[in-house]
Amino acid sequence: MSSLSERPAGAVVGRSLRHESAALHVTGRARFTDDLAPRTKDVLHAWPVQAPHAHALLSRLDTSAARDVPGVVHVLTGEDVPGVGDSGDSDDEPLFPTEVCFHGQAVCWVLADSLEAARRGAAAVRVDYEPLPAILTLPEAIAAGSFQGAQPTLRRGDVEAGLARSAHVLDGELEMAGQEHFYLETHAALATVEDDGTVLVQSSTQHPSETQAVVARVLGRPRHEVTVQCLRMGGGFGGKEMQPHGYAAVAALGAILTGRPVRVRLTRSQDLTMTGKRHGFHARWRVGLDDEGRLQALEATLTSDGGWSLDLSQPVLTRALCHVDNAYWIPDVRVTGRIARTHKTSQTAFRGFGGPQGMLVVEDILGRCAPLLGLEPHELRRRNFYQDGQTTPYGQEITQAGRLHRAWDQVTRTAGLDRRRAEIAQFNATHEHRQRAVAITPVKFGISFNLTAFNQAGALVHVYADGSVLVNHGGTEMGQGLHTKMLQVAATALGVAPDTVRIAPTRTDKVPNTSATAASSGSDLNGAAVKDACEQIRDRLAQVAAQRLGVPAADVRFRDGVVSGLGTGTTVPWAEVVAAAYVARTHLSAAGFYRTEGLHWSSTVMQGSPFKYFAHGVAATEVEVDGFTGAYRTRRVDIVHDVGDSLSPLVDLGQIEGAFAQGAGWLTLEDLRWDTGDGEHRGRLATASASTYKLPSIAELPPVVHVALLEHAHEEGAVYGSKAVGEPPLMLAISVREALRQACAAFGPEGTVVELPSPATPEAVFWALQAARAGHGGGIEGGDGPPPPEADPEAPERRPQTETLLHQLGEG
Ligand code: MTE
Ligand code: MOS
Repeated sequence: MSSLSERPAGAVVGRSLRHESAALHVTGRARFTDDLAPRTKDVLHAWPVQAPHAHALLSRLDTSAARDVPGVVHVLTGEDVPGVGDSGDSDDEPLFPTEVCFHGQAVCWVLADSLEAARRGAAAVRVDYEPLPAILTLPEAIAAGSFQGAQPTLRRGDVEAGLARSAHVLDGELEMAGQEHFYLETHAALATVEDDGTVLVQSSTQHPSETQAVVARVLGRPRHEVTVQCLRMGGGFGGKEMQPHGYAAVAALGAILTGRPVRVRLTRSQDLTMTGKRHGFHARWRVGLDDEGRLQALEATLTSDGGWSLDLSQPVLTRALCHVDNAYWIPDVRVTGRIARTHKTSQTAFRGFGGPQGMLVVEDILGRCAPLLGLEPHELRRRNFYQDGQTTPYGQEITQAGRLHRAWDQVTRTAGLDRRRAEIAQFNATHEHRQRAVAITPVKFGISFNLTAFNQAGALVHVYADGSVLVNHGGTEMGQGLHTKMLQVAATALGVAPDTVRIAPTRTDKVPNTSATAASSGSDLNGAAVKDACEQIRDRLAQVAAQRLGVPAADVRFRDGVVSGLGTGTTVPWAEVVAAAYVARTHLSAAGFYRTEGLHWSSTVMQGSPFKYFAHGVAATEVEVDGFTGAYRTRRVDIVHDVGDSLSPLVDLGQIEGAFAQGAGWLTLEDLRWDTGDGEHRGRLATASASTYKLPSIAELPPVVHVALLEHAHEEGAVYGSKAVGEPPLMLAISVREALRQACAAFGPEGTVVELPSPATPEAVFWALQAARAGHGGGIEGGDGPPPPEADPEAPERRPQTETLLHQLGEG
């Protein structure tokens, strides 16, 4: 066992503690960035002037009338920028644009004593536009050749030869929609000028160091004059990895210019219309399979909809390409990626970071091919699983294939899939207008940032003379439970009770040059850094304790707040050892650092071993589809997920359930619509509020949810044997989509191929099952008017009763 992964006796990691802020969350006392505004004196409120065109030149900007509005203090424009007026990292995101590139883009910001005055001021700003033609959809962008950024190709072997030797060659297309993050807390920043003239920005950001870098660049100041703090976020989901920077910069700029604190907080519809979302993708593919259904070759072109600027589109595309294989061995591969430039919000990171889009391609292929090959989809999938020793198309060796097989078998067994498939066949045979199906799908998700340099983290740990411990680390808390895990790591490394430790808000002046809390690697990276810092202090304390206990320092043990010597009956309380160490002039503070070893990646040839390990999971989902309306219900889901040796089982359980629900939302419910017509609102986001953008709620969750953590899953390469959990379970929701496909097929004759749009909304499902009834896949076919549906006495209650196997998680 490696020293990084080894757990001491009595470890606090592995216990099912509740989220460290749970009580604050549910009582409304948890403080978020914008809660600071009412506690700050003389705050100015910022309101954007949003362009009513998807693409236009700004011919005139006249702010004089706004400045006459009572309460308005200043209108921020490009002239106010002392440094570089760009909020991105590719020099393509002007803060104050002269060319509008999407409907709703902010062209200037009004600062006023009240939000209402700022809003009225913004309405008084006079802007003249010269509208230009706008590209909105992926097909339009592809036809026009509108692309941005690099166009990487991931290749192995000889795709033409692979296709030539294949018994079956099939081709197809898939277009999948994006997704709105809909974090509960919209983007927010509050900037103040400190007593020494430096700037403090409170920001709801997943990437405080980059927010700091962008603010410093906009202000034309060195980074040591800008501090960014993130208290916590009310959700980020990737949407706050890159996009908070511009809002933080507006607040900072306003604060410098006026000398007053400036608050930016987007309303929900501003957030929806101004900030980036998950990338929609288009995929065109050709696949070859042998007579037994074994994948031989895959050729594909993936085009993502990047929106108006690059933002994180390139790394998102890289991850998509690195996940088209999902869990399957494909000998010959050639996959090319492109990023379309469209006149929409700049699409960005979203849980999975391109991985879900890449995986959906191969899962869609297998779901479509199974009936053509005369195979059950689960049989086709299982047959193609990786074996150890094989490599991914980018050259990383597979070493844990057994885990996927184990998880698959466990779900098959515990969910009773064989029995239920027979029951479902029975049900379907006796219900003409309702059909059920159960689908099982795997997830294999690479953990680490593709870009090797990002895989580093720092921590700063102080032990005070009374024994209490303060931990700063580079990660941010967005609800995912990172702080809870870091608290457990620190308590384990120091051998103290969890309530001895406090986790401080994330600040760039405590831990510098941090990576985004992203790629699910927050606990791997920061956990190892926290552990390093704690162990430095613990080793110094061991010297002090050794003298008192009369044993060598190597024989001193720290556990549950008690320090003991091996083989002696004597113990000393932790606080006493700390107090003695202080008197003996021991350094009780330490900076920890970690970098992930063994990673390499070349983005030019798209080869390497970019991931420390893979996280695995398997889900089986049963659905029932109504033949009259296409409405469907998810009846049950069974999940086995690989989190290594869990750092915090309750937190991991929440992450798995939440990610599954969010993934199901993306694939079945959430339907972003832009006005793609030629009218005056072309390019406007039509789904710009909760009334038109449908989110999954507790009511959409299946009434039966079984989640189990894969056992015997120790991970050698990560802190205390754990694995990352934040993103991978989102892709378990592909099982919902595949179940819907199979249920639609059940309306048709044996062997029906179903092409399902994404999202598979009830409307889309209705047309898919109509096509199946007509005896062919895809296409649109009219139907007869529906007779009223019958009542279903066996239908499960709509009340969700999440049955999680807590007893499997140790403490429940
Ligand atoms: N869980 C909650 N509750 N809220 C969030 O915003 N973001 C997800 C995931 N889980 C998110 C979440 C995303 S996109 C990532 S990358 C990880 O958490 C980041 O945190 P971690 O690295 O600590 O897992
Ligand atoms: Mo997550 S999409 O990596 O912030």
